[in-house]
Amino acid sequence: MHDVARQLLYVTRAPSKPLRKQLESRGWKVTVASSAKEASQFRGDGLPIGALLDLSSRFDARELVALMPALARTDVGWVASAVGGQLEDASLRGLIRDYCFDYVTLPAPDDRVVDVLGHAYGMAALREQAATDSREPLADGKMVGSCDAMRALYRSIRKVAMTDAPVLISGESGTGKELTAIAIHQRSNRRGQPFVAINCGAIPAHLLQSELFGYERGAFTGANQRRIGRVEIANGGTLFLDEIGDLPLESQAALLRFVQDRKVDRLGATGSTPVDVRIVSATHVDLSAAMIGGRFRADLYHRLRVLQIDEPPLRARGNDIELLAKHMLERFRKDASPRLRGFAPDAIAAMYDYNWPGNVRELINRVRRAIVMSDGRGIHAPDLELGEYDEAAPVSLAQARHTAERQAIDLALLRNRGRLGEAASDLGISRVTLYRLLIAHGMRAPNARSA
Ligand SMILES: Nc1ncnc2c1ncn2[C@@H]1O[C@H](COP(=O)(O)OP(=O)(O)OP(=O)(O)O)[C@@H](O)[C@H]1O
Ligand SMILES: [Mg+2]
Repeated sequence: MHDVARQLLYVTRAPSKPLRKQLESRGWKVTVASSAKEASQFRGDGLPIGALLDLSSRFDARELVALMPALARTDVGWVASAVGGQLEDASLRGLIRDYCFDYVTLPAPDDRVVDVLGHAYGMAALREQAATDSREPLADGKMVGSCDAMRALYRSIRKVAMTDAPVLISGESGTGKELTAIAIHQRSNRRGQPFVAINCGAIPAHLLQSELFGYERGAFTGANQRRIGRVEIANGGTLFLDEIGDLPLESQAALLRFVQDRKVDRLGATGSTPVDVRIVSATHVDLSAAMIGGRFRADLYHRLRVLQIDEPPLRARGNDIELLAKHMLERFRKDASPRLRGFAPDAIAAMYDYNWPGNVRELINRVRRAIVMSDGRGIHAPDLELGEYDEAAPVSLAQARHTAERQAIDLALLRNRGRLGEAASDLGISRVTLYRLLIAHGMRAPNARSA
């Protein structure tokens, strides 16, 4: 359970003792940040935050103005306090106007400060509520699919997004791992903060340290300027370690150190900087096999795989194949002849028969090519160039039975809106037999338990 106290952030000086007492008696939990940078790292556990920016305290005005965009999050309601003369400074006036809900001129009675902070907090809470209200259901967003395996995936994404624990997404190439990582970020409290993706296979081991963790000016010959690493850029948000299985063994130790300590050591820096990121990684190689084979460190593996999400291959998504193909046709329709009606039945059948080793990415590419190659009225099987499917090739009785069986199952499921019991009785078989056939036809993942 969340603490019920309302979060209040004081920058850069603590409130006076009597004011603090009054705030606490009104349910505020006061945190003091002694610099703008410290303030930018403050998190309210996803709850709104009231914040007081004390312009009369001694602070670096330039640093503050530079950092304000990072501080200006929808979940923070800012109030500034200033002594009269300060409002003659145009940059401070601009800062108040652009980022603060209200301001008080000092000296001011404590009651007034408490009231204004309450309003600022209330407005931040309303903005947060609006952001939650307008969030669309995930299935209607960028991810297309309504089969059991995809529904299970959406459920996992929702659950995982509510925590900060590291997630490992595994699945074949082109199944949508990156899309899933983005969805986790967007459904988490870190949405609005950076999402930084790193392709671990693409960075050579000798550059990894500086790419990920950065360096100070003069750290080595050619380091003319300080460089902030990708990990630090992700501060407050999500760090997506893509193709983690391709990370060279010699780079794994440096990453492990960060995952354990959550601090980055810029090359040439004297101290380390704490960084708050949620780590999501993805792999298309079997990491546990890589670990057993000695190509991936076991300690790193266990740290990254606190939670795991498996991306279903396209061939296990049943009717979603057709759904996705039609969706992509609409998406790329501008490349098509206006007379193009859609997929001919032979094209649909060919798509169900195909194995889709490149998954959704391959489907997109084949549909785009077919749009161009078709006769302009309908997309036929040959336009998809699925190789294995050739109308002229002899068809064995076993193949014909297999295809007919699959089509009958598809139809029964469609007619009964996916209800297995009713589909089975239409087909004159038991529910258990239907279930077994679905797995045999790759229409349902063997591990997709019905929840
Ligand atoms: N369910 C889906 N609905 C719509 N588009 C999808 C879906 N899944 C994947 N895609 C699209 O397919 C393409 C490949 O997806 P993505 O890049 O996320 O795959 P990946 O698993 O990261 O692949 P790789 O292992 O090759 O990097 C992208 O263009 C993505 O938008
Ligand atoms: Mg990818």
